[in-house]
Amino acid sequence: MCFHSFFLFFFFLLSLFSIPSPARAISFVAPIDKDNSTLLYSLTIYLKTPLQPTRLHLDLGASFTWVDCDTDYNSSTYQHIPCASPLCSSLGHNLSCSNCFKPPSPSCANDSCSLFPENSVTRKTAISTALTDSLALPTSDGSTQGPPILLPTYIFSCSPPSLLEGLANNVTGLAALGRSNYSLPAQVSNSFSVSRSFALCLPGSTSDPGVALIGSVGPYYFSSQKIDVSKSLVYTPLILNPVGSTVITYAGEPSDEYYINVTSINVNGKPIQINSSSLTVDENGFGGTKLSTATPYTVLETSIYNALTDAFENESSALNLTVTNAVKPFSVCYSAADIIITRVGPGVPTVDMVMQNDDVFWRVFGSNSMVRIAGEGGDVWCLGFVDGGVNPRTAVVIGGHQMEDNLLQFDLDSNRLGFTSSVLLKGTTCSNFNFP
Ligand SMILES: *[C@@H]1O[C@H](CO)[C@@H](O)[C@H](O)[C@H]1NC(C)=O
Ligand SMILES: *[C@@H]1O[C@H](CO)[C@@H](O)[C@H](O)[C@H]1NC(C)=O
Ligand SMILES: *[C@@H]1O[C@H](CO)[C@@H](O)[C@H](O)[C@H]1NC(C)=O
Ligand SMILES: *[C@@H]1O[C@H](CO)[C@@H](O)[C@H](O)[C@H]1NC(C)=O
Ligand SMILES: *[C@@H]1O[C@H](CO)[C@@H](O)[C@H](O)[C@H]1NC(C)=O
Ligand SMILES: *[C@@H]1O[C@H](CO)[C@@H](O)[C@H](O)[C@H]1NC(C)=O
Ligand SMILES: *[C@@H]1O[C@H](CO)[C@@H](O)[C@H](O)[C@H]1NC(C)=O
Ligand SMILES: *[C@@H]1O[C@H](CO)[C@@H](O)[C@H](O)[C@H]1NC(C)=O
Ligand SMILES: *[C@@H]1O[C@H](CO)[C@@H](O)[C@H](O)[C@H]1NC(C)=O
Ligand SMILES: *[C@@H]1O[C@H](CO)[C@@H](O)[C@H](O)[C@H]1NC(C)=O
Repeated sequence: MCFHSFFLFFFFLLSLFSIPSPARAISFVAPIDKDNSTLLYSLTIYLKTPLQPTRLHLDLGASFTWVDCDTDYNSSTYQHIPCASPLCSSLGHNLSCSNCFKPPSPSCANDSCSLFPENSVTRKTAISTALTDSLALPTSDGSTQGPPILLPTYIFSCSPPSLLEGLANNVTGLAALGRSNYSLPAQVSNSFSVSRSFALCLPGSTSDPGVALIGSVGPYYFSSQKIDVSKSLVYTPLILNPVGSTVITYAGEPSDEYYINVTSINVNGKPIQINSSSLTVDENGFGGTKLSTATPYTVLETSIYNALTDAFENESSALNLTVTNAVKPFSVCYSAADIIITRVGPGVPTVDMVMQNDDVFWRVFGSNSMVRIAGEGGDVWCLGFVDGGVNPRTAVVIGGHQMEDNLLQFDLDSNRLGFTSSVLLKGTTCSNFNFP
């Protein structure tokens, strides 16, 4: 609560003075919360005039931010984007121009440039007016949160309230973090001339927020001991998928999602059998490995899933672990009583995603591979990967649970992903950023 009043005070000051963008390098920070029912993540930013804290579904691969403009949208600074404007044409190749016969409102205007907001969890879409309005984000030196800075013309679109179905109860829209020039980090970087780089540290807890750091390549300090986790980053190139897979496809446009070149998956250091052609993105956009916040658990094409679970069971049996009744959607579970807990979670075989060479791998420890399920049926730890069927568009979709308490840096200036593996190994967590 004091968090809010503290910042409302700054916003009050901001509303009195217009603050020029400072010359020295700055970066921005926003808390990330995990919803305990949908297991999805949200980002809290400040929108409108006067500024309102606004909780948006965090979508790593989306192109445009959208907000429900029909429920309590009250702002003195919103503007529609005229169809004939250069901004409207720069927003994309497949836009529509709309007219409206209801009373004027954020979601209703004539000659208004429109976009197709999408819900990537339900894969539903709509057509809604594009808007600009004020956005503010607290600044950061990588260590703690400083005063906020205003971006007066943040570009996003409205959405009907129904597009929120399937997301966490609390959110009023979606924050796009994809490769598009109009994603949230892209607009922040373009407006303030800071590096086109952002870092995500998804919380493993539903009660303590993690953090997004926008416009900085580090340092990223966690805990009171100021542990700089950027020192642990290992890099792999970001791959471009030439064909997008949004509901409304923009003909000939590449995907705004983040793909990496996983070349093998090892269990306890031993490669599992995978048809390597499925790990390559083909000319139609099929295959390969992407990161996604639209799925709570990593989804694997069936033959990869079977190879992983077989190898995992085999390696676990060498640790005297015997599988017990499976709990859906998982198929490999162990009695919690048989599992030893280490500082990186349950002591189970490691799963490595190996990239461009054998020295570059993202190690997944028990805290990120296993899911605790306690209920009437017993108390078990299950291998937290799910079967994506025989012919999914993407062979490996790395989901939320596998990314938690790992810091991920999306550096579009260098076109690479930096990853730390579990920050629990460094004695910290993603919930240890020093929010005031
Ligand atoms: C989820 O969180 C809400 C609000 O913090 C709480 O009321 C609810 O009991 C929690 N639900 C579960 C299943 O933990
Ligand atoms: C919108 O905000 C203005 C000024 O803060 C206020 O006077 C007005 O009542 C608000 N309208 C609604 C519908 O909340
Ligand atoms: C759009 O134009 C039509 C025709 O001129 C008019 O009836 C309507 O009220 C206008 N809509 C808005 C939102 O101004
Ligand atoms: C909704 O968000 C508020 C803070 O904005 C939080 O206190 C509350 O616990 C959240 N409710 C749920 C169900 O997550
Ligand atoms: C990206 O957006 C900025 C404004 O945010 C604009 O100045 C620039 O021209 C855009 N670049 C491209 C390639 O569309
Ligand atoms: C625009 O998108 C629609 C729906 O996907 C598609 O039918 C149409 O061909 C696209 N138009 C252009 C010019 O890309
Ligand atoms: C992915 O890695 C493989 C094996 O090193 C390599 O042959 C391939 O060219 C890489 N793909 C891309 C898109 O970099
Ligand atoms: C590997 O997969 C490709 C298509 O994904 C298929 O054409 C090929 O036959 C497969 N190879 C083997 C050995 O299963
Ligand atoms: C099963 O595990 C044993 C012991 O770690 C290992 O020697 C063997 O190669 C594994 N077999 C398979 C199919 O993974
Ligand atoms: C597994 O169990 C056998 C027999 O009880 C024992 O000899 C062996 O040391 C155990 N191995 C591990 C890794 O605990």
